[in-house]
Parts: sequence; C-alpha cells; structure tokens
Amino acid sequence: MSDTHFGFQKVDENQKAQRVRGVFDSVASNYDLMNDLMSAGLHRVWKSYAVAVANLRAGDQVLDIAAGTGDLTRAFAKAVGPKGLVLHTDINEAMLRQGRDRLLDEGVIVPSVICDAETLPFAAERFDLVSVAFGLRNMTHKDKALAEMCRVLKPGGRLLVLEFSKVAAPLAKAYDWYSFNILPRIGQLVAGDGESYRYLAESIRVHPDQATLKAMMKTAGFGHVDVHNMSAGVVALHVGIKC
Ligand SMILES: C[S@@+](CC[C@H](N)C(=O)[O-])C[C@H]1O[C@@H](n2cnc3c(N)ncnc32)[C@H](O)[C@@H]1O
Repeated sequence: MSDTHFGFQKVDENQKAQRVRGVFDSVASNYDLMNDLMSAGLHRVWKSYAVAVANLRAGDQVLDIAAGTGDLTRAFAKAVGPKGLVLHTDINEAMLRQGRDRLLDEGVIVPSVICDAETLPFAAERFDLVSVAFGLRNMTHKDKALAEMCRVLKPGGRLLVLEFSKVAAPLAKAYDWYSFNILPRIGQLVAGDGESYRYLAESIRVHPDQATLKAMMKTAGFGHVDVHNMSAGVVALHVGIKC
C-alpha cells in the first residue's frame, strides 16, 4: 500500500476514506450553517456561477457527485425540469441523509444514491453533465475518480469540478492566517469540532493547483478543459469537455 495525504498527515491509502468519513459524519448536521459562516455566504455565489456555466436544458441527465446537502442538485433539478434527471449522490450516508431531507422539505424529489466516485455504478455514456463540488480533494485516488466521471459522460458531455484552489500570492498570508486560526475556532464554537475544520484548511493546501488539476483532467480523458478562477483563486471551476 502507498501513502496519501489526509490534510498534512501522511496516511496509508486504505485509511484515508475512513478518516474522511469520520470528518463528514461529524460535520453533517452543521454543514450548511458552517458553510455560510466560514465563507460569509460566498459559497452560494460560487455555486450559482457553476450552475450558470452548466447552462442545462430541459430533459438533461445529470450526475451530482459528492453532492452532500444538495445545493447543486436542487438548482440542477429546477433547470432540467420534469423530463430531466438529477442524481443526488455521495459516499457518506449522514451527508446524503441531510441533503435528502432538505431536498424533500423544499419539494425537490430526486433519487439519492450512496456511491463512491472512484467506482461509479453507472453505465458508460449515460450523463450530459457530471458535477463535483468541494468533493474531489477528499478522494483518495483523484485520477481514478476523474476517469470514472469521464466514462459516464456522453461524448460532448461536460464535467464541472468546483473546488478550493491556489489563491493569488498577495492574498496567501491573510488566507493562511484565516484558515489556520479562525476556521478551526468557528468549527469548535459552532459545531464542537475544531479538528475537522483544521482538516478542511489542510486538505485545501495539499490539493492540486489550477494547472495541475487541468492536466489531471486531460489525462483522465477530457479533450478540452477551461479554468475559471473565483475570489482570486480561493476557488476554481474546472470545466472538462469529453471530446
Ligand atoms: C465538502 S462536502 C461537499 C458537499 C456539496 N457538494 C457542497 O458543495 O456543499 C464533500 C463531500 O464529498 C464526499 N465524498 C468524499 N469522498 C467521496 C467519494 N470517494 N465519493 C463520493 N463522495 C465523496 C463527502 O462525503 C462529502 O459529503
């Protein structure tokens, strides 16, 4: 077995998924509140931008991976309408349940499916669009997950990867200070779990930067990849086209 990152720690590859599961089991019930607090609501803007870029049409078939509490799923379901399909999927049952309950409360009825992005249980060339928002950095074998996402897309289909990325250099110090001093404190105060939010900050630092992720997507089979930086690179939207 080889080692991989769990935040700044090196762990055996077969331990990472279990450690990530521990994080999301712990944060699931406070996830939406914490997202608003930590990003001062900005995560809504980043997601709205991704939905606009998705430019879905009525009837489209969409797979939302690592969908958690379902922000993208809900917006996509509205865009594809009753003739389309959006699958709300995640590897973590606690996160998926939070999302399913919220979607149902809001009158959005879509299938919720537990599945691992690294071994997707769907036929090849099934979807018009695949999305993964703030999920890829938690995956052990990102190359395998990206290849799976490419496999299940129809030719011409698009993958949207919305993820924390490499912030512009002038902001790096302030961003580090906020991430390592403030984030874990908010997590401790609000959710009683500072450690999970320290993992969040660390996992962002070890995630591939914009250019590296673009290269990984090309290797995974995407013929064309565009990168859209947001908030000075705090977040980037990578759009891969299967061609
Ligand atoms: C930060 S949450 C993102 C939730 C949602 N997409 C959002 O943007 O608010 C990351 C999610 O990735 C999921 N995840 C981690 N590894 C995964 C994997 N191998 N396959 C599918 N989902 C995974 C976690 O369970 C968690 O729900």
